[in-house]
Amino acid sequence: MIYLNGEFMPIETAVIPVLDRGFIFGDGVYEVIPVYSRQPFRLGEHLSRLQTSLDSIRLNNPRTDAEWRTLINRIVELNETEDQSIYLQVTRGVAKRDHAFPKSVKPTVFIMSSPLLPPTADQLHTGVAAITAVDNRWLRCDVKSTALLPNVLLRQLAADAGCAETLLLRDGMLTEGAASNVFVVNQGVLLAPPKSNLMLPGITYEVVLELAQANDVPFDVRNISESELLGAEEIWITSSSREILPVTTLNGVAVGSGRPGPVFRRMRELYQDHKAQDMKAARG
Ligand code: PDD
Repeated sequence: MIYLNGEFMPIETAVIPVLDRGFIFGDGVYEVIPVYSRQPFRLGEHLSRLQTSLDSIRLNNPRTDAEWRTLINRIVELNETEDQSIYLQVTRGVAKRDHAFPKSVKPTVFIMSSPLLPPTADQLHTGVAAITAVDNRWLRCDVKSTALLPNVLLRQLAADAGCAETLLLRDGMLTEGAASNVFVVNQGVLLAPPKSNLMLPGITYEVVLELAQANDVPFDVRNISESELLGAEEIWITSSSREILPVTTLNGVAVGSGRPGPVFRRMRELYQDHKAQDMKAARG
């Protein structure tokens, strides 16, 4: 069951007009929110990032946070699995094709759910492979825009190489993954690129840094060069759908020992505990 512009319906019956600016221009923004045991995780942070994205593309938020919460909880109820991935999207609506904003058009609001498939035991045990590529996206990667063609093409490079993700380098510095943030461990210190217009401020990225801070895991937020990435002891990718996933092969070469490292194992434990506590608190 999905939500589209005020109505709940089965996804098979949901349709949008071909002139929707999301379809024509990719003129919209989105969020992906993980749901564990029917409780949305870090919903406040996702709604706040949605607001920032909407502000960046000069689109009024069509729902209040309270309305978003109600709609999302209803979609969670209407769908079967306990753990879900909620996708929500707002576009600038339906109008005659013209690049400039249309006047007084209602935004299109869409919410769907799919079963959340976090990393498999095998992926956590052996890690995944990744490649690097030049980050050739625009200069507003902090906006969670539905216009994802560059990300799609970059991720496909990984898929073509039988890899799970493409790690992106701009001017020799690590930015993020095609659909994830990236962490590196060097000399036992957890490193993360600083937030900027060149990467999406990931909610999972924020959780990892909070957990590092609260649990005395040595970390530093600073630029990471290509050579530091290639020589890393550990590399992880993070996202709402993949949680924290160790990268154990980069460009065909083993990362560190070629196995998920000790800092990853510690952070994974902290993350699982944090999620469990958060779910318990949400249930009251
Ligand atoms: N993507 N960077 C990019 C480019 C992303 O697309 C994502 C997530 C992230 C991680 O952000 P978060 O931790 O808030 O999920 C970073 C989602 C999951 C997607 O497009 O499906």
